[in-house]
Amino acid sequence: MTTQATHRQHHHDVLIIGSGAAGLSLALRLPGKLRIAVLSKGPLTEGSTFYAQGGVSAVFDQRDSIGSHLSDTLEAGSDLCDRDAVQRTVEQAPECINWLQDLGVAFTEEQQPDGSSGLHLTREGGHSHRRVVHAADATGNAIQSTLVRQVKNRDNITLYDHHIAIDLITTRKLTGRGNRCIGAYVLNRHTSQVEVFRSHFSAIATGGASKVYLYTSNPDSSSGDGIAMAWRAGCRVANMEFMQFHPTCLYHPKAKSFLISEAVRGEGGKLRLADGSEFMHRFDSRGVLAPRDIVARAIDHEMKRLGEDCVYLDISHKPKDFIISHFPTIHTRCLELGFDMTKEPLPVVPAAHYTCGGVLTDRDARTDTENLYAIGEVAFTGLHGANRMASNSLLECLAYAHFASDHITKQLDTQMEDISIPEWDESRVTNSDEDVVVSHNWDELRRFMWDYVGIVRTTKRLQRAKHRVDLLLSEIDEYYSNFRITSDLIELRNLALVADLIIRSALSRKESRGLHYTLDYPDTDTSLDHVNTVLEPEHFTQGYAPLQITSATTTS
Ligand code: FAD
Ligand code: SIN
Repeated sequence: MTTQATHRQHHHDVLIIGSGAAGLSLALRLPGKLRIAVLSKGPLTEGSTFYAQGGVSAVFDQRDSIGSHLSDTLEAGSDLCDRDAVQRTVEQAPECINWLQDLGVAFTEEQQPDGSSGLHLTREGGHSHRRVVHAADATGNAIQSTLVRQVKNRDNITLYDHHIAIDLITTRKLTGRGNRCIGAYVLNRHTSQVEVFRSHFSAIATGGASKVYLYTSNPDSSSGDGIAMAWRAGCRVANMEFMQFHPTCLYHPKAKSFLISEAVRGEGGKLRLADGSEFMHRFDSRGVLAPRDIVARAIDHEMKRLGEDCVYLDISHKPKDFIISHFPTIHTRCLELGFDMTKEPLPVVPAAHYTCGGVLTDRDARTDTENLYAIGEVAFTGLHGANRMASNSLLECLAYAHFASDHITKQLDTQMEDISIPEWDESRVTNSDEDVVVSHNWDELRRFMWDYVGIVRTTKRLQRAKHRVDLLLSEIDEYYSNFRITSDLIELRNLALVADLIIRSALSRKESRGLHYTLDYPDTDTSLDHVNTVLEPEHFTQGYAPLQITSATTTS
């Protein structure tokens, strides 16, 4: 295997696009003899992983069991999870936690009944047991910082921050033959040059697409780049209608949708209306710890019914020391914004949080495109079904990084034809003098997605959104063909494509299930149990047989 970088052509054995929990775990799991490139479109630490609060779900309590983790996940997923994917993932969970601990992640511990020290487990919605391993309320920070520290110590891993992948390079795009991924075109944001990253194996670990909505708990990086790139490279995409809204983000104009962890409810927090009354028991017998789709919809319903801007999350009845020791980050941030959660309820609203659908993958994280893997939030593995259970996402990143690493390792001796890759062609484009078009389209897209493709949908609203996104797509296409590429344009082009996939998927699901709720079809149609919405890039896949992934059934 080879590695070396020329001015604008880099050669690596494995190219990993994304430096969150998924991407960095894959880099660390792969054999040390491989030369690995990890790209991050911003600083290495920036991505959803860094902001994760609640934790990682894994069975450690003797009263808990893998079977219970399995059945809670299936239940939250509303008859749409792939049982095999769930089983494999929850079985892998304790190993993933031990692996992170070995790397140096300091999870919160507590004294056990026998006097020894063991993991403190918190609780979140949908979990019937305490099984969320955490580092106080800053679990993502602890994981991300440790992984970054570790990859920086590995000689075989080269880190490229501020490098944004534009598109994957496939044999089919270059030669019309087969469809093997051989690298990516990448904009180096330090130099504004487009560079070629050539690789034998590639993995997209680019996170989710919640930035497609006006209000989101996610950082700006969640613009669906991986889903869009994979789609353009011939991969099928599944279940994009299931966009998860977190029930409790802080309602404050300066908070930028700061998350108030579900663990606050897990540790006794109550949801109240402005008059102080509780309301969740009217919607579900599990009350505030019902799965997230149910809680977010109930809040949305109450806010609309009463014409209120928010509801309230109240844990002030708990001792001050308890609150501060369990939720130091949330407590400090709220204080900065003028709320003392030890004394008063916090105003909260739902915001877009997680992309349950994504690039269709098999049990080894393989996509339809040969030698291309997808791991983490960008992927659809079948784990989450119609609604992801809390803290199963970081787990999925860790588990599938492990599965992908095993699979890549087994393929290392496969011979591959060397194909020359042309440099990025900029001969027909000029610098844009209309950057305002890009920012205007960003705003318009995110606003109509929020208004028409949000927590409660109707066919009419979805059709309205489809009409708007079609117009945007053609405008962006024209802009893309004529002007020099920028990060904002790359992200806008991807977001618009992902918005289109979400709307098409939502229009095709004529029922309500999990996170997809439409007033026109308010009931669940049991004939659609275990039927995923799989979209195929017909323009690309004609003439070759994509990977057969058996867990997914096509509805559209
Ligand atoms: P990310 O961590 O989002 O990383 C994506 C990476 O891809 C980044 O490095 C980014 O720069 C890079 N990237 C993206 N596009 C490109 C491109 N075009 N070119 C180059 N690089 C690119 N889940 C849980 O299980 N437990 C929790 O407690 C929890 N809390 C959460 C709290 C918050 C506030 C948020 C936002 C999410 C939370 N989640 C939680 C969800 C979970 O954090 C994410 O699903 C998970 O971290 C995703 O990890 P990832 O590695 O797939 O992507
Ligand atoms: C939270 O801490 O509430 C987020 C947990 C998750 O998204 O899994």
